[in-house]
This record gives sequence, C-alpha cells and structure tokens, in this order.
Amino acid sequence: MCKKILNPVLAILSFFYLCGCGPHSTKSDLPVYLDDNSPVNERISDALSRMTLKEKVAMCHAQSKFSSAGVPRLGIPEIWTTDGPHGIRPEVLWDEWNQAGWTNDSCTAYPALTCLAATWNSDMSLLYGKSIGEEARYRNKNILLGPGVNIYRTPLNGRNFEYMGEDPFLSSAMVVPYIKGVQSNGVAACVKHFALNNQERYRGFINVNVSDRALHEIYLPAFKAAVKKGKVWALMGAYNQYKNQHCCENEILLRKILRDKWHFDGVAISDWNGTHNTMEAVKNGLDIEYGTEISEKGKSDSYDHYFMAGPYLNLIRGGELDTTELNEKARNILRLELRTNMNRKRPFGSFANPAHSAADLAIAEEGIVLLKNDGNILPINDNKVKSIAVIGENAIKMMTVGGGSSSLKVKYEILPLEGIEKRAGKDIKVTYERGYIGDTEGSYNGVNSRQNLSEKRSAAKLIEDAVAAAGKADYVIYVGGLNKSEGQDCEGADRKGLELPYGQDKLIDALSDVNKNMVVINISGNAVAMPWKNKVPAIIQGWYLGSEAGNALAAVLFGDVNPSGKLPFTFPQKLSDSPAFAMGEYPGKDGQETYNEGIFVGYRYADEKKTDPLFCFGYGLSYTSFKYEDITIDRSEFDGKGSVKISVRIKNTGNRAGKEIAELYIKDPESSLPRPPKELKGFSKIALEPGESKIVTFNLTLHDLEYYDPEAGKWKAEKGVFEALVGSSSRDIKGSARFNLTKTTYEED
Ligand code: GLC
Repeated sequence: MCKKILNPVLAILSFFYLCGCGPHSTKSDLPVYLDDNSPVNERISDALSRMTLKEKVAMCHAQSKFSSAGVPRLGIPEIWTTDGPHGIRPEVLWDEWNQAGWTNDSCTAYPALTCLAATWNSDMSLLYGKSIGEEARYRNKNILLGPGVNIYRTPLNGRNFEYMGEDPFLSSAMVVPYIKGVQSNGVAACVKHFALNNQERYRGFINVNVSDRALHEIYLPAFKAAVKKGKVWALMGAYNQYKNQHCCENEILLRKILRDKWHFDGVAISDWNGTHNTMEAVKNGLDIEYGTEISEKGKSDSYDHYFMAGPYLNLIRGGELDTTELNEKARNILRLELRTNMNRKRPFGSFANPAHSAADLAIAEEGIVLLKNDGNILPINDNKVKSIAVIGENAIKMMTVGGGSSSLKVKYEILPLEGIEKRAGKDIKVTYERGYIGDTEGSYNGVNSRQNLSEKRSAAKLIEDAVAAAGKADYVIYVGGLNKSEGQDCEGADRKGLELPYGQDKLIDALSDVNKNMVVINISGNAVAMPWKNKVPAIIQGWYLGSEAGNALAAVLFGDVNPSGKLPFTFPQKLSDSPAFAMGEYPGKDGQETYNEGIFVGYRYADEKKTDPLFCFGYGLSYTSFKYEDITIDRSEFDGKGSVKISVRIKNTGNRAGKEIAELYIKDPESSLPRPPKELKGFSKIALEPGESKIVTFNLTLHDLEYYDPEAGKWKAEKGVFEALVGSSSRDIKGSARFNLTKTTYEED
C-alpha cells in the first residue's frame, strides 16, 4: 500500500525537481546538464544565463600555474592546460614551474616540430597530433599548448626547434593535420605564438616593425591555416609587441585579423606573463590570462590581482565597462568546454604506450635528413664493418630534458649510442669516446636526467682519446651539434653565433684526419656552420628525435630505413648570408626591430641575392636515386577558375625502395611588386620501389598565385605569365612549365 502511494508522489516530485521547480533550488542552481543534441549556442546561452558576474570574470584568468576556473556551482569544469608541442609536461605543484614529483606522468617524447616539418608528410603530422593528443586526453588536459609555428627568420633563435621552418606554405600544410589529430581526442590544440615571435632575445618587449606584405605573406599564413583549415580551438598570443602593443592584447592581431577577418571562434589565451593591461586585454579580445607574475607573489589571493581578475571586476562594477566583452569571453570559454571536457562523446586517450613509441619512431625516421653521402659510405654494411667508434657528447646526452617549456619527463629515451650498439649487434665492436665536454647539466624544472656527465679529462685529453679510438675503427660516427641548454636550442635566449659550441669543429677536423669513413650527425633544431663539410664524406641532420632517437638514427645509419627527410629551412654558409643579419635589425635596439628584409626570408632571400647556401631549403638525399621526367601542364591559359594541373613522372632509378618529396614552386616574372624568384606552393611525398615510377600531379589554384597588395589590403593575383617549377629542392629544379593568367583578381584576407 505504502509503496503504491509513494511511487507516484516520488514521480511527481522528481518531475518538478528536474523542471527546476524542486525545493531549495532554482533553475540557476541546477548543475548544467547539457543536452548534447541541442545547438551549441543554445547550450552556451543556457549556461551563461546561470552564471554570475564574478563567475564569468573568474573564468577569464588563471587560478593556478596551468589552470583557470570553471563554475563549481553549476558543474562547469575547470580548464587545464599543458605544455608542450613535443610531449605532455609533467604535473607541477599548484603555483610552481617545478614538477610535483608525481609517478604516473612520464610521457612519450615526440620529435621536435622541425623534424616533423622535415618529413614533408602530412600523414606524419596527423599521426603526431593524434598520438600526443591521446596523451593529453589521458592526463585530462583541455588545452595542449602547441603547436608553435613562428617562422624561422634567424638561425640563432633559441626556439626554432619548436617550430616548422622558414616557409609559410610548408608550415601551413604541416600544422593543420597536427591540430586535427590533437583535437580528434577532444583536446584543444593551441597554435602559438601569435605573432612575430621570431627570436627569444628581448622577446618580452621587442616591438616588431614589419611590412604588411611580410606580415601577411610570411608570418601569418600558418596561423591563418590553423584557424581556417585546422579549426584550431585555442591560440596563444606572443610576448613581443606589434605596432607598439603587446600581442596578447593587440587590437589588430586579436580583434581585426583573428576575429573579424578569420572568424576565429576559439579561445585566445595569453602567453605566461604576456598580459600587461586590463582595458586593452578586455577590449582587444584576450579570453584567458595565464602566468601573470604578481608583484605580491605568494599571497594566497595573488590570482585575484591578475589584470583580468579584480581590476576587471572593478571596472565593470565602477561602470567603466559593461559586460559585452565579458559575455563574449565567457561564450568562447564555454564553447571550449563543450568541445573538450564537457563533450561526453570524446575518446578516453592513452598514455606512453607502444603505439606512441611507434609513432615517435616513424616520424623521427621520416624526418632525418641525409645531407651528404660521398662514396655512398652510408648505409653501413654490417657484413663488412667490424668496428665503429662513436664519438661525441650528444651520443650519450638526453635531449628530452631542457630547452624551456617543451622540456619533458619521459618514460624512456633511447640515446644514439644505445641505438647504434643495439643495431650493431655482437659482430661489430662499438667503442665510445666523448670527445668534448658540452653541457653536464641534466635537470630542468625539477626533472633530472639522472645522467652523470661529469668528466675529469682535459679538453686535449678528450680529443686525444677520441682520435685514438677513431684511428682504430672501420667507421667513425660523430654525434654532436647543439643541445637544450641555455644559449643553445633553448627558450629564453638565442645563440650567439652559427658555429658549433664546445670546440667541436676542431675535434671533427682531427677525427676526419685519421679516418675517411666518417659520418657526422648534427643533433640540432637550427642550422649550424660546418667548416669541415668538405672533409667528411657523410653528414646527417639528426634533429631532436624524442624517446626513440637512438633507434631512428641507427635504422638510417644501417639502412633499415632509407632517409627521406628534406630541410624545412636554409643552412646559410655564414651568418651574414641570413637576411635577418644582412638586412634586418636583429636582435633590435631600444626595444624596436624592423624586419627590413620584408618577404625575403630564408630561400626567398638566398635566391634573390643568389647566395650559395651550405644546404638549401627543401634539400635531402636518399640511398636510392630518382629521375624526374615528362613535366606537363594541362593548360596554357588560366582564367582563375579551378586549377592548373602540373604533372611529373618520378622514377626510382636506384636499387632500393625509397620516398621522394617533389616540390612545386611558382615564379611570377612580371609582377608589379617585387616577388621572390620562387615560392613553394605544393609538395608531394611518394614511395617508389626500385625501377617503379609514378605520376605526381600538383593543382595550382588562384590563391597559390597571389601576393598581398598592401595598398588594396587584399590578396592580388596579377594577370600575366607564371612559371611552375618542379624540383627535388629549392635549388634543384628539374623542369618548369609556363601558363598565362588571363585576368587580375583581388581577394579579401
Ligand atoms: C612559456 C612559453 C609558452 C608556454 C608557456 C607555458 O613562456 O612561451 O610557449 O606554453 O610559457 O609554459
């Protein structure tokens, strides 16, 4: 009896409760149950309608080193961010940079993004993003603070290793799949640092003066691709200034370009301590302020002193601001919530598993660039070679610790020596000599490599011992280059010069005098000078390759993998061959720096000035050879509709399988404004068996022919003759085809 009466009463009560009419609660007190099927904007409006002024403001600034507030009362989760572009940073204490000492956050280290760019393979980029996104998801992060796509303007920039090279087309093509891969996990990628953050020196304040053409043709395209093609859900402002306004609160960049022109619907966040002014940050579209260094640091309420915290609330309460911008920010943040931690349909991720190691290995193997191989001394023939002397500190030094915010605590890192020893097996005697002392430090933010790199021998003794070992071995594999210590490939500072540090040039010279079978592996994220280039028969650009570094290098050295990477940036012979030094004002003076070189960055400059790079953009060798033939074009007149098809047959003329990257450049010989001699507008990577040939087709569209017309403030495709150049590098053009664009068109940015 009792039950019979009770059930209907309960049913009625539950009905009224769920409708928000229950006792002790109003609609605004109900947790935000988001009907996944209703339109996003309705759900956002619903959540917004329930939030108080303080709750909205609280969402717009950090609450800890890497998180910002949700709305606990309504069940709207906090937002957790994590570095970095190459792997998931270890957990830190609430308001610390140092790791918190957790024991479940040792991640997979993926290759540095310069290596990813060097693969010229968008499939690798998608694999990369998916894999690193799975790890971010598993660690319950909403925003992965990467990828970085700042253009490689000077070879001294300490953070070039985190970016995708000197060309806007290559960076654009490679950043989009990375973003899609990350976001397929319900984790936001955060493209950074927007914009013009092309050096670490004076990064916190330098005001970059740059032409509109260079801004739009060189420095913005990868960000625009990230937003318009990658649909990136977050973007990080840069530390520097543009038009004398900090990028994290910059009206032109964040409001006029990002929102009004590109229609970005994601969240704009500051770099850590990149916010400087409440009114500008509020008005110009910053959504979340992170990392501001409060002078009263250590106060329990220091986060309340953020520019977009108490000061913002006071401006609203004082009537100087209304809540228009606040609601816009809250909407963007709620949209991010619905895409990430309030998205019930997203996958669960996974962490540091064999699939992620395999992804690191595959990307690393495809990104390694063979720069020289005289006499085909590579690959090493393990049936003939009986002894190998491995020389150099980078053969034994962990590269996943250090470098700044991209530093990691890894589950493991196979070092070059270890990979070579494992691959050589028991039939080849492998000896090791350090050769020089570089960076004996091995810790960053409380993560310690646990390597004891101390050394008692003098520099002379180290060289003597290395030369002795080299003289006795069939092969010498030198593993040197840069590292992740300050002043090398590291955030916060730039290198002082192009030369290899620690006296390596002298050592390489001495080694090459005693053994002709010498391979130099340059581990770096930047170009370096190679005065010994003609003295060594083989050179490999080894990059920072992540957890599987040693295995990837060994696979290429012994020929298990045929190298197929190509350089994403120019190796100049000398610093004065770099436009930032020849024409630019690097590193700037009195807080100002003008990019006088304009659009002539990287190979664009080298081609224009006809300099002779050490190794050019787009260069890389293979253990096989390829022949380009039958370059054809499907039309001689182009009215701008559809595309111009350029085809080329590529044949593997060697005796082993390999992958070739064919590159397509355009040349506009009759433009009203100066244009570079060639500009990359297409590439294709194909795998070919020995003797096999394939047709590669490029589709050139009107967009590919445009330059930015600063007078019109639009993109202009100017009628007249164009040349399509097909090459295996920017300096090895195999053939070309001409066509005539029949009319001039303009297009909005
Ligand atoms: C750093 C970097 C940025 C990083 C952030 C958080 O200063 O510039 O790339 O994501 O702060 O560590």
